[in-house]
Amino acid sequence: MDKVIGIIGGSGLYDIAGLENRKWQAVETPFGSPSDELLTGELDGVRMVFLPRHGRGHVHMPTTVNYRANIAAMKTMGVTDLVAVSAVGSLKEDYAPGDFLVVNQYIDRTFAREKSFFGTGLVGHVPFSHPTCARLSEVCLEAGHEAGGTMHRGGTYVAMEGPQFSTLAESRLYRSWGADVIGMTGMPEAKLAREAEICYACIAMITDYDCWHPDHDAVDVAQVVATAKANAQLARSVIAALPKRLKGPQSDCASGCNRALDGAIMTAPEC
Ligand code: ADE
Repeated sequence: MDKVIGIIGGSGLYDIAGLENRKWQAVETPFGSPSDELLTGELDGVRMVFLPRHGRGHVHMPTTVNYRANIAAMKTMGVTDLVAVSAVGSLKEDYAPGDFLVVNQYIDRTFAREKSFFGTGLVGHVPFSHPTCARLSEVCLEAGHEAGGTMHRGGTYVAMEGPQFSTLAESRLYRSWGADVIGMTGMPEAKLAREAEICYACIAMITDYDCWHPDHDAVDVAQVVATAKANAQLARSVIAALPKRLKGPQSDCASGCNRALDGAIMTAPEC
């Protein structure tokens, strides 16, 4: 079986261009409806599945996005390699609005979301020390360089509940923890992708300096939207550079993403 590339688009990315045989399709899951219909098609001969995380028209809040349905829908569509694009604020001077950072760690501060496909009756714990797929992240970095983006390899993403932006004290706290970027949607998406045994990478699109930077205004929606819009074309070019790098049969993931459930189930088989 060949790889299937999934893309979850964040703020500013509600569609992808250049797909052959493009079709928006409704998909239902045991966890409810995903954020929108899924856009399917082929790019460079590779099957692609796109989902706008907030829905077309940006109608779902970070807290109310049905992350379980989104990941379950991707799994149903046969996605093997999932690239998430997320707008974030920068917590470091050197990471400027307009830059892209390929995330490799998270601090999950969200608290009002369903975070697992497991539950009463079926208990499981997947490994998550390395929450993203190293191979897919490297591919994203290469694609970003080809597209002409200013790319940063690796960084820690603080996932906050929102929907309000951080206070100054919170922003300073996250900086003191050594975190690099902050956003509202990175979790539980990455956790659920691991439980679904899908390779997952996150391209964080930096839109602002949050509120800690003495030389920049505190973040507001106008800034996020303006920078996200300005960068959407670059994000599309990065996506367009992915298929030729991923084309080919599914293979065993060196990071173990596609084997995450091996040994993860606690519930006795007879239960
Ligand atoms: N998304 C974009 N910028 C953000 C910020 N500063 N905080 C949280 N989420 C964001």
